[in-house]
Amino acid sequence: MAEGQIIVTGASKGIGAAIAGELERRGFSVVALSRSGEAPAGRAVVCDVTNEGDVKRAFGEIAAAGPVAGLVNNAGIHIGGPIASLTTESFNKTIALNTTAVMVAAREAFPFMEKNGGTIVNIGSFFDKLGVPDNLAYCASKAAVAAMTRCMAVEWAKHGIRVMNVAPGYIETDLNRDYLAREKVKAWMASRIPVGAPGKAEDVAKLVGSIFSEQIGFLTGETIYIDGGQGMNH
Ligand SMILES: NC(=O)c1ccc[n+]([C@@H]2O[C@H](COP(=O)([O-])OP(=O)(O)OC[C@H]3O[C@@H](n4cnc5c(N)ncnc54)[C@H](OP(=O)(O)O)[C@@H]3O)[C@@H](O)[C@H]2O)c1
Repeated sequence: MAEGQIIVTGASKGIGAAIAGELERRGFSVVALSRSGEAPAGRAVVCDVTNEGDVKRAFGEIAAAGPVAGLVNNAGIHIGGPIASLTTESFNKTIALNTTAVMVAAREAFPFMEKNGGTIVNIGSFFDKLGVPDNLAYCASKAAVAAMTRCMAVEWAKHGIRVMNVAPGYIETDLNRDYLAREKVKAWMASRIPVGAPGKAEDVAKLVGSIFSEQIGFLTGETIYIDGGQGMNH
């Protein structure tokens, strides 16, 4: 068993559950956070990461149980729609989970990694540098994740904490299953994604798992895109 616990947010299903499973397979001790408390892999802890008090309580309890070696900020939400009718409430709800909760969780995990170092992986999106119709809130929230990753990386490097942003392209999960099932969308995906189709949660999980397993000391602050080549496809 690798030393220390790794906290994975939004680990009840989708990409987060796949990451928790992959980290366990690699011998890590995983704590799986979600609102529902479902945990296909890892030790379940109920925690709404948009609630600061909940995060402080949960992280305190986790640290009391043993050393904390890492954090995966995966919990996320997608609310689409044209800018002209985007409500401030939808915008703020997206930022609250995709952006503010990433900062809060990293900040609250920091004291537990300050002395012995650790690894933080944020889950961004390849939308972070694209102009996507109907996606203003989501794109903004993920661009901020890439920026925060760089800031955390340079500020915490002296503590032995590496911070990475893993930015997936289309991955079939509950977040988009209905959308990806539409015939028109399928044909568009086949034409736009160089590898031919959306990726799997396991693809993202293997990348995150390798970041934790390989411990490449000189790699920090970067965004790694895992999108089948879509973001760079002209
Ligand atoms: N799927 C894609 O194509 C894709 C592409 C790029 C990036 N991403 C990113 O990858 C991450 C995971 O996406 P996904 O597709 O796996 O989503 P998903 O299937 O909808 O799962 C979201 C997870 O987040 C948890 N969650 C939601 N709100 C939460 C909260 N307030 N506190 C704690 N946990 C919360 C959910 O569990 P509970 O409901 O039990 O709380 C669930 O485990 C997100 O950050 C997303 O933006 C996804």
